[in-house]
Amino acid sequence: MYRLLRPLAFVLDPEAAHHQALGAAALAARLPGGLSAMRAMYTPSRARPVTVWGLPFNNAVGLAAGYDKDATALWGLAALGFGHIELGTVTPRPQPGNPKPRVFRLSEDDALINRLGFPSLGADVVAGRLAGPRPAGLIVGVNLGKNKDTALEDAVSEYCLLARRFAPLADYLVVNVSSPNTPDLRRLQAGPALAALLSAVRAARDETPGRRPSPTPLLVKLAPDLSPEDLRESLTAAMDAGIDGIIATNTTLARDGLKSPQANETGGLSGAPLTVRSLDMLREIVRFTEARLPVVSVGGVMSAEHAQARLDAGASLVQLYTGLVYGGPSLPRQIIEALA
Ligand SMILES: Cc1cc2nc3c(=O)[nH]c(=O)nc-3n(C[C@H](O)[C@H](O)[C@H](O)COP(=O)(O)O)c2cc1C
Repeated sequence: MYRLLRPLAFVLDPEAAHHQALGAAALAARLPGGLSAMRAMYTPSRARPVTVWGLPFNNAVGLAAGYDKDATALWGLAALGFGHIELGTVTPRPQPGNPKPRVFRLSEDDALINRLGFPSLGADVVAGRLAGPRPAGLIVGVNLGKNKDTALEDAVSEYCLLARRFAPLADYLVVNVSSPNTPDLRRLQAGPALAALLSAVRAARDETPGRRPSPTPLLVKLAPDLSPEDLRESLTAAMDAGIDGIIATNTTLARDGLKSPQANETGGLSGAPLTVRSLDMLREIVRFTEARLPVVSVGGVMSAEHAQARLDAGASLVQLYTGLVYGGPSLPRQIIEALA
């Protein structure tokens, strides 16, 4: 079905198409019988549950950050079968993001480039939505980022504020220091800066009661563009700070071997061109940390085979975003059933 509809969706501007999809998922949840119809179509017939950080995930497959930044369609998206959904990036104050157009489809490469720059309704709105009822069994992460107009020196206090705000509402928290579209954000990944940031956020998390008896797990999301030495420094900082896991990877600034005319757009590249890079980075993280930190593997997971390869390489969970755009709403179900 999606194969038939995709050319229609691809006529729309990519960001408009995304909002249509999100709007449809939100609407389905409000129409009588809408959610049951979606569940009938998309709920996996079998799934392998996994426990990570003591949290019971219905399956290992999640929706990556950026798809539902403001928690507008949690129920509809949960009906696609995901074991977890990562909301955000949420910034402390609302901000519009970069001027449009800012999302580009690279159809010949099964890829996207985005330079959204964290459009966010802000922490108050997202926290308000999260305080309401939530789909049963769904694990909800919240991905945190600083406002664009906040100086890098003040980033630590913004991340701490966000951690205090969302620790009681989220099942896990993610410190995002790897988006390429907020000027200088990635500098926070450097060893000493990251050590200071993560220790402070961990302390903020520790002093805030969570939703569950144990503290809300705290993760950091890393870029695929770190050099091997920089990656080891970042991982050492993460382990020294005592955080609970790594998400790898965010989008890349690399542009190797692309065929689509949009390849020269500025922004972060996601999808198929990331598959190998993200798997390689996962392997390096598992090796260097001696598998002491759970890793959520994301980047170019476009098929069940890709997802299985991540679990085989030591990932605890996988996530996808661009795969959903190219593979359609039944891809999560296919992957979840294949992994069961
Ligand atoms: C349009 C778009 C928006 C994104 N927004 C965010 C974001 O706000 N925060 C974040 O941590 N990652 C964001 N990402 C990155 C994804 O979460 C993911 O790490 C990346 O796209 C690689 O996975 P994929 O190849 O499955 O898309 C975004 C990706 C896309 C394509």
